[in-house]
Amino acid sequence: MEKALVLGAAGQIGTELVAALRARMGQENVIATDLRAEALEEPCFALNAMDEAALRDLVQTHEITQVYHLVAMLSATGEKMPEKAWELNMMTLFHVLNLAKEGHLKRVFWPSSIAAFGPNTPAVDTPQYSPMDPTTVYGISKLAGELWCQYYHDKYGVDVRSIRYPGLISWKTLPGGGTTDYAIDIFHAARREGAYTSFLAANTRLPMMHMEDAIRATLSLMEAPVDQIKIRSSYNVSGVDFTPAELAESMRRHYPDLAMTYAPDFRQAIASSWPQRMDDGKAREDWGWQPSYTLDRMVDDMVAHI
Ligand SMILES: NC(=O)c1ccc[n+]([C@@H]2O[C@H](COP(=O)([O-])OP(=O)(O)OC[C@H]3O[C@@H](n4cnc5c(N)ncnc54)[C@H](O)[C@@H]3O)[C@@H](O)[C@H]2O)c1
Repeated sequence: MEKALVLGAAGQIGTELVAALRARMGQENVIATDLRAEALEEPCFALNAMDEAALRDLVQTHEITQVYHLVAMLSATGEKMPEKAWELNMMTLFHVLNLAKEGHLKRVFWPSSIAAFGPNTPAVDTPQYSPMDPTTVYGISKLAGELWCQYYHDKYGVDVRSIRYPGLISWKTLPGGGTTDYAIDIFHAARREGAYTSFLAANTRLPMMHMEDAIRATLSLMEAPVDQIKIRSSYNVSGVDFTPAELAESMRRHYPDLAMTYAPDFRQAIASSWPQRMDDGKAREDWGWQPSYTLDRMVDDMVAHI
């Protein structure tokens, strides 16, 4: 019997991943945790993932077999408190990897990000293996995390699996302080005010993905037979890629008068150091990844729900 524990369950991804896991595994077999539990559905607990003893206790008491580790300080917020971001992102990962190393967990999911790449990475069709020189503390923590995942797999046999998520687009919860947040903010602004000021320049192309695709990728990766998982750092996955101007153009099919202005801030430098489009050939080959959303379909879905 598999039993899953989700850390950071109240966040943008956690909200949707918990629902998807519960639909598959049964409500009672998926325990949701976050700093505060008010927004969560039972079974759920308030848990600070930095608290190793409390995490261990929960894993042992509930005989957890899989952990989905979604706690992190994201790229934009991390730049405001770099040491705190490093501590949170790394310590919580070690707590989970060590529980798996000790044999308490069968499988771990931990997401990396396109932020693990940097200005010397080929930006177009970014290969799975390419130079990685991240410029943010968030990106540094993701690259280090990837290498630690690979290390725990190779040295201790930990079955840890990971995806380099692009910017994720969803309507159920607000995004948590990342550089791709504009692509969600714009839908709320279009509906409220019919206008949006983008904090990224008009032609800044970034890889993005509809949340439904991201959840499907996560579940496919975690459900794949172990011999299909050939990469233990983190897999490139791609969905769609677009610029703020292209997104606005697609949205004008619904909001013909949508007015755009551009006022790039500190997040522009972060976005400019990231890939524009990812080559996800390895994910397709190893565990059958296939995205399903186009830009227009993603826009139609966001407009219908926001
Ligand atoms: N959303 C994206 O576009 C995106 C892209 C690439 C990678 N990722 C990665 O996916 C993961 C989840 O991202 P998200 O967008 O859902 O983030 P989010 O900020 O929306 O959610 C993170 C959750 O973690 C919780 N949290 C923070 N500190 C905690 C602690 N000490 N103990 C317990 N909970 C704590 C927060 O309350 C929040 O609910 C992260 O590792 C992130 O780096 C996200």
